[in-house]
Amino acid sequence: RPVPVDELITSLCATVPDYPKPGITFKDLTPVFADGTAFRAVVDALVEPFKGQFDAVAGVEARGFLLAAAAAYATGTGVVTVRKAGKLPREVYSEDYALEYGNATLELHTTDLARGSRVLILDDVLATGGTLGAAARLFERCGVHVSGVGVVMELGELRGRSALAGHRVRSLLRL
Ligand code: PRP
Repeated sequence: RPVPVDELITSLCATVPDYPKPGITFKDLTPVFADGTAFRAVVDALVEPFKGQFDAVAGVEARGFLLAAAAAYATGTGVVTVRKAGKLPREVYSEDYALEYGNATLELHTTDLARGSRVLILDDVLATGGTLGAAARLFERCGVHVSGVGVVMELGELRGRSALAGHRVRSLLRL
């Protein structure tokens, strides 16, 4: 039988104590991405609930880029980058957010996607939801419908879903 995607993620994910700061336990998904079977299963599972409901896939810098590019290629849709401040060359919208450790700003070109189009937003981890909440607001400011938000792993106790109220959120593993 095929191994369920949540079991693949659990078995491959690395747990790193005291990273990036003492007391923080970091969940490192790079071994999941590095495994061909697991990576394909993850991308397929993230896309499946939203199939036919999006015109482009957005990835949040940096690990979200990997997922978004694969998902866009697999579904014949476009790919868009939601980037850290100062990286995009043309006119942007900016949204500030509070990270689990610190503050940051995400940016999106105002014209990457047409008003009225539909986007699926992907990232590796949903923690406090600050990052994906800011990403969703960027698309809303562009008049783009957020069809859904997909993450590989959700750290449930940080209640990231509350920052994404009104959005369909699919996580493949809840810790
Ligand atoms: C991590 C992760 C998510 C975000 C989740 O990214 O990849 O994007 O934090 O946290 P939140 O739900 O509390 O906002 P990070 O900011 O470390 O950026 P990176 O992917 O560029 O390393």
